[in-house]
Parts: sequence; structure tokens; C-alpha cells
Amino acid sequence: MRIDVVTLFPDMIRECCGYGIPRIALEKGLLELGTWNPRDYADNRHRSVDDRPYGGGPGMVMQVQPVADAIAAARTQGAGPVIYLSPQGKRLDQNAVRRFAELPHMILLAGRYEGIDERLIGRQVDEEWSIGDYVLSGGEPAALVWIDALARLLPGALGDEESAQQDSFMDGLLDYPHYTRPDVVDGQAVPDVLLGGNHADIERWRMKQSLGRTWQRRPDLLERIELNKEQQALLAEYIREWQSTQAN
Ligand code: ADE
Repeated sequence: MRIDVVTLFPDMIRECCGYGIPRIALEKGLLELGTWNPRDYADNRHRSVDDRPYGGGPGMVMQVQPVADAIAAARTQGAGPVIYLSPQGKRLDQNAVRRFAELPHMILLAGRYEGIDERLIGRQVDEEWSIGDYVLSGGEPAALVWIDALARLLPGALGDEESAQQDSFMDGLLDYPHYTRPDVVDGQAVPDVLLGGNHADIERWRMKQSLGRTWQRRPDLLERIELNKEQQALLAEYIREWQSTQAN
């Protein structure tokens, strides 16, 4: 996969991709990264890329020309969609990440200031996506969220091929709890079942914890999926056990 990022802070993108899974994906050639700075395409002497908003109000708006030319340069690298990162976009979730991870190429457009001139968005942007209902001072952290979430899904990027399959949201549920040595911490022991070595029991326990946590913390997620018979029974068991601890 190739990701081109149009950004006023290319160093921020490149630097942050020097760690963890994005770094490994880059080193293995699973991921290619390009950055394109609108400032390099500004056609004025001061290399300015923004101006005051028509109609007044606070802040500055990024101008069409430098951004359009930076996007045009990024387009020479592939035919993928131009994705504008903004709080007005569709909200990113793991299903969307999984779909985007299938693409060979995309261009992420990170805005700064109050935003980008709407005419640029209308003409050049294919999709608008948000990483959550809060406002960042720029699209760069959002671009990094995209790159990280995508990189870990690229086949071969994670050492253990299974771990992306098993984590939160892959089946629409939250993750189960994890434990490692030592087996007792401040008097608190690891659940017995995890020490027993019975893999079917462990799978069942983990599924039950995933279901129970999702039920307690994110009931909205449960409404979106259909549980099979075994999952329904495990969740019922979890709820019964939880209720018995609440009884008095
Ligand atoms: N830019 C500013 N805020 C953002 C958000 N919540 N998601 C994506 N891009 C953004």
C-alpha cells in the first residue's frame, strides 16, 4: 500500500512513522509513504498558503491553489481516493479501516487553521473522514491515526498474523483482558482457566469476557451484531455471574 499525505508538517508525519508497526511496515516495503507540502507549491513570493476568511471571523483558511497543486503532485503516485481529514467527515471505525486497508493507494489531506477553502474540497476531495467527535488543531494526528491503523492490517506487518484477527472490534466486540507473569500481583491472581492449558476452555472464557465487557462498556456495539447461540449463552452466563456479585 502507498499512502501520500498532503500536509504543512511533513516532518511530523515522517518522524512519527519511524516507530513501531508503521516503521516495520515501511522497512519491509509493505507500506510506502509520500509527503507533499502545499507550501512548496505556493505561487507567491512569501510562500503563504492561507488567508482570512470571507465574511470575517477568527482564524485563517487554507487557499485552493497551493493545496490543489500539492494534491496534483501526490496524484502522480497512484490512482487512490483523496481523503480529507476533518471533524465534519464520517466517523472512522475498524470496519472502515479494514476496507481502506484493501486499497493499493490513497491520499490523505491534512488541514490546518480553520479549514480549507470549500471549493477545493468540492473539486478535489473524494471522501471526508473524522477520527472522532472532537476537534484537533490540524489533520496530522488524524493522518497518523489512519497510517497506524492501516499499517497493522497489512499482511506481514504484525509478527503474529493472528493478533490483528483477535483484537478489539475485529468481530465487533471489545477485547478480552490479558495477563502475563507473574501469576500473582499484590495478592491478585491470574484467572485459573488461563493457567490450565485447556484451549477450548480458554477460548470460551475469552469470548465470554469480550461479550461481557462489550455489554457493560459499549452496549451500542452489541446492537449492531448478531450473536450466535454459544455467544448468547456465554453472555447470559456473564450477566448472571455479574448480577450475583451485585446482589448485596
Ligand atoms: N482535523 C481536526 N479534527 C479532526 C478530527 N476529529 N478528525 C479528523 N481530522 C481532524
